[in-house]
Formats: sequence, structure tokens, C-alpha cells
Amino acid sequence: MMITQHPLKIAPSILAADFGHLADEVRMAVQGGADYIHLDIMDGRFVPNISFGPLIVAAVRQVTDLPLDVHLMIEEPERYVEAFIEAGASILTVHAEACVHLHRTVQRITELGCRAGVALNPSTPIEAAREILPFVDMILVMTVNPGFGAQRFIETSTSKLRRMRKMQAELNPICELEVDGGIYADNIDDVVRNGANVIVVGSAVFNSQATVKENIAELRRSASSAVWRQA
Ligand code: DX5
Ligand code: ZN
Repeated sequence: MMITQHPLKIAPSILAADFGHLADEVRMAVQGGADYIHLDIMDGRFVPNISFGPLIVAAVRQVTDLPLDVHLMIEEPERYVEAFIEAGASILTVHAEACVHLHRTVQRITELGCRAGVALNPSTPIEAAREILPFVDMILVMTVNPGFGAQRFIETSTSKLRRMRKMQAELNPICELEVDGGIYADNIDDVVRNGANVIVVGSAVFNSQATVKENIAELRRSASSAVWRQA
């Protein structure tokens, strides 16, 4: 039996933040104990929604030294790799479904001194990540269909996570496993128990029910007893 050596990391997604006070929202997440800041880039093509580009990433870079975890939900992400790294991305994640030459794109990200991640949509099998796994720093298993915040967690994702973490243990044990979409205090323990260690949280962190700090603390508390063990 092997226990994961990956520490739990909370990655608040600014998609759910108040963009009129973005710097303050980011500062609150930092002070509240965030490990990464997650930034969702949407192009209106790969996903139906449009969010923001490198300018906002650069603005967030001015506010914190925390790693910026940039999630590209865009077609042909290879065209924008340089721009997002120059803007301050620390981890740049591209979707496997959006890249014809995924290995080349991952290699380019790494060459530019950035950590590379590969994301999989809910309907994409874990096998789509097998050959690229030895070359990446993080795999992102989407637990909703990308494009919008505050969607419902897709329940079959927990089994997918477990299988993905097992494959990672064989092929790239230091690789992080991130989940994104529909994670709240009542299901965070489930995703952690099934192998996730980087937890993206949007509406569970930025909401009117409690402060950002209280929300992050609550998520950590809920996750604290969950441990991934390889079967
Ligand atoms: C969805 C984005 C997510 C989103 C998560 O396409 O990739 O990062 O902000 O939001 P919640 O946590 O509200 O589901
Ligand atoms: Zn995201």
C-alpha cells in the first residue's frame, strides 16, 4: 500500500471573483492560505464562453508571488504559449482535445521554463494522457464540462481520478493530479481520497456566504481526513 507524497493544494479560480476588485480578491485568497491561483482562459471556440487573456494574468502576477496556474481552454493553444508565460504563468495547462501535436506543445512550455499540464474533458479517457504523462508536471481531470463556473460535479469523475492516479503512480509518480469544477466542502474529501491533490475551487471560495479565508479553511478541514491509498 502506497500513500501519496503529494501535499494538498488549494487553487482558487478567479473566474468566480469580483473583477471590479480583482487585486483585492487575489490578496484575500493569498492571505486565506491559497497554494496556487487558478486562471481560466476561454476563447469562445473550444468552450462557449469568453473570459480574459494575458493582460489579466500579468495584472495578477503583480499582486502575488504564488504560482499562477493558467488553464487554457482555447483552440490551438500553441499559438499563445509564449504570451501566457511572458505574462507570468507558472504552470500552463493545455487541453489534450485542443492540441494536434500535444507533445510538441508540452515540450515548448517546458523549454520556456514553465511547468506543463495537460487537461482532459470529462468524456476523454485517461488513455489520452498515457504517452504524454512522462513529460508533464500536472494532469488536470475536468470534473465538469469546461466553460462555466458553478456547475455540478460529474459523479463518475471519482472513478476516473482513481484510475488516473494509478497510471501516474506507474508512469510519473511526482506528477500532480488536479481537479476542476463543482468542488465544494461536501465532496472535496472524495476527490482527495481518489487521488487528486490540486483542488481548483471557484464558487466555493468566492461567494457571499462567508469570507474567502473562512471558505478556504472549511475546504481544508473537510479534506483533512482524506488520504489517497493505492489499492
Ligand atoms: C470551468 C473552469 C473552472 C471554474 C470552476 O470551466 O475551468 O476553473 O472556475 O468553478 P467552480 O469551482 O465554481 O465549479
Ligand atoms: Zn479551470
